[in-house]
Amino acid sequence: MSRLRTLLEWTRSVVHVLCGGDRRRTVLLMWRRPRGLFQPYGTTQENRYPGLFRLLRQGLDDVPQTRVLSFGCSTGEEVFSLARYFQLARIHGVDVDANRIGACMRRWRREGHDPRLSFACAGDVSQEVAGSYDLVVAMSVFRHGALSRTPINCSTWIRFADFDRAIDDLARVLKPGGLLVILHSNFRFGDTGTASQFDCVRLRSVQISPIYGCDDRLIPGMPGDDGVYRKRQAPTA
Ligand SMILES: C[S@@+](CC[C@H](N)C(=O)[O-])C[C@H]1O[C@@H](n2cnc3c(N)ncnc32)[C@H](O)[C@@H]1O
Repeated sequence: MSRLRTLLEWTRSVVHVLCGGDRRRTVLLMWRRPRGLFQPYGTTQENRYPGLFRLLRQGLDDVPQTRVLSFGCSTGEEVFSLARYFQLARIHGVDVDANRIGACMRRWRREGHDPRLSFACAGDVSQEVAGSYDLVVAMSVFRHGALSRTPINCSTWIRFADFDRAIDDLARVLKPGGLLVILHSNFRFGDTGTASQFDCVRLRSVQISPIYGCDDRLIPGMPGDDGVYRKRQAPTA
């Protein structure tokens, strides 16, 4: 039975590769499995989170010095949408998949090379300068589609230790007072070592993602803590 399932999954993957599009990108990414990969699927859409985008715009100045990072930007819809809410800020999109970043760049060229927008292919933000962003969004990144079947342990797909490291790095690039947005995560921000540097601005009330603990084990019935968090100002001496 499990051999049949493997054969079916393999056949489906080959069909997806042949068909092209984002399914092809996803299969290639899963085969390659770069270090630190979370959600391999590139599902996204234009103006995907309008209520949240409005809230973020109200909470942040929109001036040329404002810097926004979209971590896991897929094919760029999130970056181009944020650019309509923030008309002056600079917005940088990062994604681990070079094909998706290629799609971002093609759209960027087609739509007139907006100098406020930039993109980079990377699986982390180690190349970004510490304390340089006012807003970091990581939406639908710290999860994996396979976990919707609620396996008892998530470590075959994603690991809490990688999440903890990634959050620590995202916190590093945020300015004191800057905002971090985590959405649709299979882990809890509050379980990370970095969470104590943040205050919760807004918790998301409805959540359907299964939650996994620091030991990568499913915690049945555990609500997530997706939301908007503000990095505390450094204490004054
Ligand atoms: C479901 S898409 C989310 C797109 C967008 N943020 C949204 O919410 O519409 C997840 C994206 O995260 C990217 N991703 C997964 N792990 C990553 C990592 N370690 N670093 C950067 N991007 C990553 C995937 O390549 C994929 O494009």
